[in-house]
Amino acid sequence: MDEFRAIIEPFRIHSVEPIRMSDRAEREAHLREAGLNLFALHSQDVLVDLLTDSGTGAMSSEQWAGLQRGDESYAGSPSWFRFLAAVRELFDFPHVIPTHQGRAAEKILFTVLGAPGRVIPNNTHFDTTRANVEFSGAHAADLPVAESRTPSLEHPFKGNMDVAALATLLEARAADVPVVFVTVTNNSGGGQPVSLENLRAVRAVCDRHGVPLFLDACRFAENAWFIREREPGQAGRDVADIVREMASLADGMTMSAKKDGLANIGGWLAVRDDALAEQCRNLLILTEGFPTYGGLAGRDLDAIAQGLREVVDHDYLHYRIRSTAYLGDALHAAGVPVIRPIGGHAVYIDAGALLPQIPALQYPGQALAYELYATGGVRGCEIGSVMFGRRPDGSEVPAAVELVRLAIPRRTYTQSHIDYVIEVVLAVAARAEELRGLRIVEQAPALRHFTARFESLA
Ligand code: F0G
Repeated sequence: MDEFRAIIEPFRIHSVEPIRMSDRAEREAHLREAGLNLFALHSQDVLVDLLTDSGTGAMSSEQWAGLQRGDESYAGSPSWFRFLAAVRELFDFPHVIPTHQGRAAEKILFTVLGAPGRVIPNNTHFDTTRANVEFSGAHAADLPVAESRTPSLEHPFKGNMDVAALATLLEARAADVPVVFVTVTNNSGGGQPVSLENLRAVRAVCDRHGVPLFLDACRFAENAWFIREREPGQAGRDVADIVREMASLADGMTMSAKKDGLANIGGWLAVRDDALAEQCRNLLILTEGFPTYGGLAGRDLDAIAQGLREVVDHDYLHYRIRSTAYLGDALHAAGVPVIRPIGGHAVYIDAGALLPQIPALQYPGQALAYELYATGGVRGCEIGSVMFGRRPDGSEVPAAVELVRLAIPRRTYTQSHIDYVIEVVLAVAARAEELRGLRIVEQAPALRHFTARFESLA
């Protein structure tokens, strides 16, 4: 337990960005213009932006110094070697392939490994991962543990993969499975961590069938902190050391440095296999860039290198995980249904439970996200049937759960911003029964949540 209730952010503020205040009438006008899609808002019209934790964190003074050090040589820049050393300090893979963000790494990998008739299992695919798997023609199979399906259930490692389900799949079809993925933390499953024990068990099943194991490692440091806090035998261990053990269990990884790289842009693909690396590098050169910069400027490589050192700092992670829990625990204590326990990077409100009057295909998550913005200028993100409800053939099925994610950018908002968010959510929850659903009037065939336009059914 912490001695004091106040969360002391382990940094001082060095430069500030103004937030423009607005009222409900203005925000409703912005929503109408945006087709009721929060992705279409101008970010300057948002008071507290919890749309994503991706690329939106504040960089440290040392990262800004790294930008100055950035060397823009086309090939073999010192920025590249600093980046490579920082990645290898945590993830000791022989081949590191820099990309402009996580999905570029996914696109390259699944172009090589995916194909019709193949299956890619994951604890839960994130939207871009699923879309890249499906674009290759392969099937994206989600195999989370059963506990992850009950939002209110307390369990220390709800991000775990269902090892028995994986074993059954591989016994039947190992030849069709080019790689098994585990996402740490499990973003679509509520930002829930995966235990080392689960990773070891998944590894053992993969080994029995000769299938490689990859990590979708975007939030590796937050996952490792939860392992340190919650897994028997891991208390007091250095987080960097836990990360190295996670990496040692895998044959490769995809990474978005926009999360636990503490950077605004960047990512990488890392692999052990030489032949796979060569195929991936050939694609990298076609679409991203030369192998020593990928899709990144030298200055970005330096910002990531420094970010990777800062993200495993225990004071930072203590503050990070505690401030996410602060928001989630306050909502939970006030009776708002949220995914329990609170995950690492976000609080997930169970909009299906909060708004039982709205059927899944009238998008309770979107209705709640609309109302949080209209009421208080707080922008969250629907993770439910808008995001996952459309199948590749165009038919619609409800998602497993209807959530609104309030993702917390790293080192960006203070406790008083979060106190404001708590008040806004509680004001909306107090009149939940007045909310009505929406229908989609325009949509894209894949990743429709980014551009869909809606009409209110009120
Ligand atoms: N994998 C996971 C688990 C993610 O959460 C994301 C991005 C990606 C891959 C793709 O990385 O954005 O760099 O291309 N998640 C962001 C989010 C967008 O809001 O959760 P990217």
